[in-house]
Amino acid sequence: MNKDWWKSSAQGIPHLVTPLPGPQSAEMSRKTSRYFKGLSSQVKLFPVCFAEGHGITLTDVDGNRYLDFSSGIYVTSLGHCHPKVSEAVAYWANKLMNCHDFATPVKEKLVEKVANLLPGKLNGIQLYSDGATAVEAGLRAARVITGKHEFISGFRDFHGKTLGAVSCARMARGNVLSYSPTRTAGFYMVPRPDPYRPLFTRPDGSIDTDAYIDFYREFIFEGTAGNVAAFVLEPAQGWAGSIFPPDDFFPKLKKLCDKEKILLLDDEILAGMGRTGEWLCLQHWDTLPDIVTFGKSFGNGFPVTAMIVKEEYSEALEQISASSSYGGNPMACAAALASLEVIEEEDLLQNSRVVGDYLMRRMEKMQQDHPIVGHVKGKGLLLGIELVKDKQSKEPFNKAGELVYQKAFAKGLAWIPAGHILRMSPPLIIDQHHAGLGLDIIEEAIAETEKEFGY
Ligand SMILES: Cc1ncc(COP(=O)(O)O)c(C=O)c1O
Repeated sequence: MNKDWWKSSAQGIPHLVTPLPGPQSAEMSRKTSRYFKGLSSQVKLFPVCFAEGHGITLTDVDGNRYLDFSSGIYVTSLGHCHPKVSEAVAYWANKLMNCHDFATPVKEKLVEKVANLLPGKLNGIQLYSDGATAVEAGLRAARVITGKHEFISGFRDFHGKTLGAVSCARMARGNVLSYSPTRTAGFYMVPRPDPYRPLFTRPDGSIDTDAYIDFYREFIFEGTAGNVAAFVLEPAQGWAGSIFPPDDFFPKLKKLCDKEKILLLDDEILAGMGRTGEWLCLQHWDTLPDIVTFGKSFGNGFPVTAMIVKEEYSEALEQISASSSYGGNPMACAAALASLEVIEEEDLLQNSRVVGDYLMRRMEKMQQDHPIVGHVKGKGLLLGIELVKDKQSKEPFNKAGELVYQKAFAKGLAWIPAGHILRMSPPLIIDQHHAGLGLDIIEEAIAETEKEFGY
């Protein structure tokens, strides 16, 4: 497969033929929202209607061509309609679409591939069709493995919208997660370290990881019934705005978990599969989870997710059935297998690291040059720019975040808003030239926003 398969469609992007959103986009968005309810802020702030995607290029119904800086929503990491993935899905769409959890040749190949590829004998696998369901399976697995029933997750983590997953997240986040007046019994949350906004600091003001770990140790004894099955954490917080913990956090947390016989459930649905330059984001810190979840990029757009446990725990999975209507159907397995192969064949972990380093260097310069850029963060192609009203108070600048999002979108950059933190997750196939173009657009939008707010 030629690695440059996407380059011809990317020539000259962004290329706009109407002001945005164009007339047909506006009309179709209006008609769709007549019946389709509950749109995300991403769509509400910029209602376009997409017609096609190829590689790093999205085209709307008016013929405007955008540079994709979000990969759908961290999903199409190998580019839209990667030929190898599309062909693999089409093959099985014509041959065998579904046969419950029976073995199929393509499932056999996929599970073997996953087991061989992941570090640390993570090889007890179940397949599902969305992220939240894989997280729920992880919670069930932790319970049967440990015989315990409580869970601890981290402030500002996100794990999906089913009730168990919601119980691992902030309850009062507008109308998104407020399904219930209370968290499900036995689910707790603790603060997790954000290097830009640390809660526990040393006398010199630097983040004090040990204080977080000491607090967790205390919390386990004082705040729970002593039945904690697992810590459920994102390795880096995606929805919260690409927040990475200090390097010593996960190694120290895992040590605490092992001592207290608590599992580490690592939710890599957003950050895994090469997004940060490693298969597992946790590999950046030489830490291995007991349970891991995969989703989003796993099928590059085809709905397929996985919950995986360490070999020593895999027999316990016999107690939680893998049965699901769509999980691991032949098309899903083919999409995931092809995606894993593409990451290897096109050396995309390395590309994510190299292009990500280039973007980080440029973002660091932006932090020096722009009064509202308080902090920049990221690994590989999971990146964030935190906007503040002033660098001293670090007060979050949500209005600026909204405006920068809209201004950059209007210039042809398809991406994701997140309050005051600008989130970037371009496809892993992107080259330095196009990545730089995307950041140019964002920097222009930041400069215009600063002007509007009188900086
Ligand atoms: C870390 C994490 N876990 C779980 C989920 C839920 O995935 P899904 O939307 O496929 O249910 C998400 C979705 O954004 C996520 O970011």
